[in-house]
Amino acid sequence: MKRCWALTIMLLPAPVAVCVGQGAPPVASTTSAAEYTAEGRLKFPERYREWVYLSSGLDMRYTEEGGNPNHSMFDNVFVDPRAYQEFLRTGKWADGTMLVLEARGAAEKGSINQHGHFQTREVMGVEVHVKDTKRFQGGWAFVAFRGREPTDAIPQSADCYSCHREHGAVDTTFVQFYPTLLDATTRKESSQQPRADRASADRASADRASADRGAGGNPVSDPSKTTYGEISPNAPKELHAFSFLVGKWDGKGKTKLPNGTVAEFPVSCIGRYVFDGMAIADEMHAPAPDGSPFLGISLLQYDPGRKTWIVEFLNVSGSFLRKQVNSTAGSVEVSGRNVTVASESPGVTIREHYLVPDDRSFTYRLDVSNDGGRSWSTGQIEMTLHRVE
Ligand code: HEC
Repeated sequence: MKRCWALTIMLLPAPVAVCVGQGAPPVASTTSAAEYTAEGRLKFPERYREWVYLSSGLDMRYTEEGGNPNHSMFDNVFVDPRAYQEFLRTGKWADGTMLVLEARGAAEKGSINQHGHFQTREVMGVEVHVKDTKRFQGGWAFVAFRGREPTDAIPQSADCYSCHREHGAVDTTFVQFYPTLLDATTRKESSQQPRADRASADRASADRASADRGAGGNPVSDPSKTTYGEISPNAPKELHAFSFLVGKWDGKGKTKLPNGTVAEFPVSCIGRYVFDGMAIADEMHAPAPDGSPFLGISLLQYDPGRKTWIVEFLNVSGSFLRKQVNSTAGSVEVSGRNVTVASESPGVTIREHYLVPDDRSFTYRLDVSNDGGRSWSTGQIEMTLHRVE
């Protein structure tokens, strides 16, 4: 039993460097514009016309052929105000961002107009581009509304995704056509791959970016330097199993002590995308039973080449590293939103369960076995965390 305790201490996953003040509400703010039904359909953004206007295109076409020369159409692009502000600040789209493309009829003849086109009352379609790295593979989804009914995302195989991925200047969006956003992109470095066909405006803004840096600008493109980073569009889909960790968490833990009593401790946790969004690092902070600070960092990544998870745990306060899962040892099992990491230490088998009922909370439970998995001491450590950010 003594041995178990020593182990549990080394295994405490990854707490936070910042202890959030008591009384901090354990519920994340829900300022995201996106709302979903219980079935996961996106609700129609009723007030998008009161959002921030980005641009209009007139008869834009992306191929040589097609299009009807006798029929003109505008498209108007809007973004929700919170995402707009966030983009101006960071040059990035935050989770929850919603962009709307509204197609409208164009007319030439009306009132006093003699030349050129104006927009009509006829809305010919509303398409939404919504970011939610926890919900959607690749981080984004398109939804095409026919009316105002909640609507499912367009499947990821549609050409919407490939064109936006290949040609959109910033994170699969066409910022190269949104003039008021171009300046903000100077604050972002290439966390997206550079695009061969970027508009010259983008090159100009990249030049401005390096000029800004020289002048003490504050580029935030490196995900390891931003608060939570962003998942890479190239990340293996397996990585999404741990995306729920990304953000800031606060909660309580308890552990069984060798004398049979249970010790409780406060715990906080920060999960981030690192490695250009190809891996997740999860830091956990908690006081050890003797009151000294404990810091542990878990690194979670998936190697699609070898089809294996790689999970490593760095006990910073104890200064040792445990390689928990790789191609020859341990495993990660995903069941719905829950994840179990199985690993071995000499003489001890460990199961760490992440039970994830929703976006706002999760429970971590560590079970140990001293007889190769025949019998288990469950809940050796148990922590319940609530999302703060
Ligand atoms: C061949 C390239 C291409 C394809 C395919 C494509 N788009 Fe776009 N999309 C664009 C361009 C270019 C813009 C910028 C339009 C503008 O400035 O008015 C855009 C803008 C948008 C926007 C505004 C937000 C943003 O991401 O910049 C939405 C929403 C959108 N498209 C939805 C869709 C949907 C839904 C589909 C599939 C049914 C689709 N697009 C397919 C090129 C494409």
